[in-house]
Amino acid sequence: MHHEQPRIPPIKRAVVYKSLSGFTKKYAQWIAEELQADLFPVQKAKFALLSEYDLIVYGGSLHAVGISGVGIIKKNLCRLAGKTVVVFAVGASPPAEGILEEVLNRNFSPEQRSLIRLFYLRGGFDYSKLDLPGKILMTLLKWKLRRKPSLTGDEKGILDAYDHPVDFTDRATIAGLVRYVRSCK
Ligand SMILES: Cc1cc2nc3c(=O)[nH]c(=O)nc-3n(C[C@H](O)[C@H](O)[C@H](O)COP(=O)(O)O)c2cc1C
Repeated sequence: MHHEQPRIPPIKRAVVYKSLSGFTKKYAQWIAEELQADLFPVQKAKFALLSEYDLIVYGGSLHAVGISGVGIIKKNLCRLAGKTVVVFAVGASPPAEGILEEVLNRNFSPEQRSLIRLFYLRGGFDYSKLDLPGKILMTLLKWKLRRKPSLTGDEKGILDAYDHPVDFTDRATIAGLVRYVRSCK
């Protein structure tokens, strides 16, 4: 007698993001495309929606080492038990050594750290696209940097970027995250 194989339901993947000037959104779109995942801005992602997915990738831009919008993941992490949760942070800085540890420690408790996997992707900087609080903060930083007697290469890069937007987004850099997601579900 012929038995039909039980159908394994397809894995449901969601990519959720918060982006101020578009860099994180671009990565979120690339990742969703690569993983055949549904894509939502964080404003639309309530717990009821997240709970429908087996795997959630969250992306947010870095603001003073804080991952913007990541509260939705932290708040619901226990209730999301059994799902794979991957987070990517997008900053203007080059991916320096120790950045993952710094961002993990700043944003998550030790318990939360053991439940997520973090990636860093380099975005860019576009002053003209910031909201008012972002513009004010960055103007304060500019004044502070201008008063410094000498600047590091990174700091010079930040000052230059006020006048000329910079974009370091690179689709190839999502490969590590995509490989990780494919390996776990
Ligand atoms: C107020 C403020 C704070 C920032 N702090 C950091 C930071 O700590 N580290 C970093 O790499 N980039 C920092 N940035 C740069 C943004 O993370 C970067 O421009 C990112 O690509 C923005 O992505 P988005 O367009 O998706 O919001 C900061 C930007 C602003 C406006």
